[in-house]
Amino acid sequence: MARLPPVQAVQPTKPLLRTLAGLPAERPPIWLMRQAGRYLPEYRETRARAGSFLDLCYDPELAAEVTLQPIRRFGFDAAILFADILLIPQALGQGLAFRENEGPVLDAIRGAAELTRLNPQGIHARLGPVYEAVGRIRTALPDDCTLIGFAGAPWTVATYMLEGRGSTDHAAAKTWAFGNPAALSSLLAILVEATVSYLDRQVKAGAEVLQLFDTWAGVLPEMEFRRFCVEPVRQIIARMKELHPGVPVIAFPRGAGLYLEGYAAATGADALGLDYTVPLGWARDHLWPKTVVQGNLDPRLLVTGGPALAEGVQRLLRSFGGRNHIFNLGHGIVPETPVRHVEQLVRLVKGTETSV
Ligand code: CP3
Repeated sequence: MARLPPVQAVQPTKPLLRTLAGLPAERPPIWLMRQAGRYLPEYRETRARAGSFLDLCYDPELAAEVTLQPIRRFGFDAAILFADILLIPQALGQGLAFRENEGPVLDAIRGAAELTRLNPQGIHARLGPVYEAVGRIRTALPDDCTLIGFAGAPWTVATYMLEGRGSTDHAAAKTWAFGNPAALSSLLAILVEATVSYLDRQVKAGAEVLQLFDTWAGVLPEMEFRRFCVEPVRQIIARMKELHPGVPVIAFPRGAGLYLEGYAAATGADALGLDYTVPLGWARDHLWPKTVVQGNLDPRLLVTGGPALAEGVQRLLRSFGGRNHIFNLGHGIVPETPVRHVEQLVRLVKGTETSV
């Protein structure tokens, strides 16, 4: 009688997917936040050709091109879609511009009554080129390279929508959080819906892993942190797990500090991005290896280079021994980073260089 082979779960072969599945690895997979960006001459050339940063985001061919540039140059284990967390407010109808040396500028939402101006129905019409870029990137990627899709976490996106720009004190968003929490919840609910729908489309177009960027997770007191940071992220991940159970989600709650403990369990995130202030010993004792961790080299160390960089990299490699760890920076790469330092970093992590 013919016997069927035993049913086996198919194990992923791509290094990033293997690490996210908790499988052993000889070295951590590596990619860098903002790996496509101004430190690369070919990025500056393509951006100039596109006209502006936003034109680049909405041009599927050029967005795919800049996504692939760092893969070709450095052989990273993952590509991250080239886009921005502020495309969602723009798709909802909010005015957005990126000004040279000033960063993003939005038409700030001044009160709860203005929330009705946001139109969740129209987002995909605007975001179509992003999904097309995802498809193009996926087709062009080497077999062992994973495509990461992403979105901003609702709280961080809301801070820009309410402030109208980047800020250090988040005065407007905090005024909503403390003075009109119901209105802030309404805005966050709109963002949860839009983000789920946006990420769903990214996965359908070819994204294999998702990352949620919560750049301003570290600015709220505990109660508000739970309500306005954790809860919307939990809702997004729960919905994504229903839609795409096999797609891992990395959460990056920058600056969350002591809130990191319990964050993965509270949100359902499969992995946790650590910013560069998180002590490695603490992460080992309190998060890892139960939680896969990502990070957390200081981007300025990559500007410094030399022995300081080599030491920082070795310390990170030793801390996790390549297990349940994704090598990354503790925040985005900065424009003044020398390309040769990135090359040095990749050699150090891949084990083809042991010192400088
Ligand atoms: O990581 C990648 O390579 C993927 C692309 C990506 C960008 N922004 C491209 C970008 C991703 C994942 C982001 C996320 C993002 N965008 C965040 C969260 C992560 C973080 O850095 O904290 C935030 C807060 C934004 C909003 C944003 N976009 C700001 C505040 C700025 C201005 C600051 C700056 O560096 O100029 C941007 C612009 C931006 N987004 C650039 C890039 C490559 C620089 C634009 C340029 O070419 O001039």
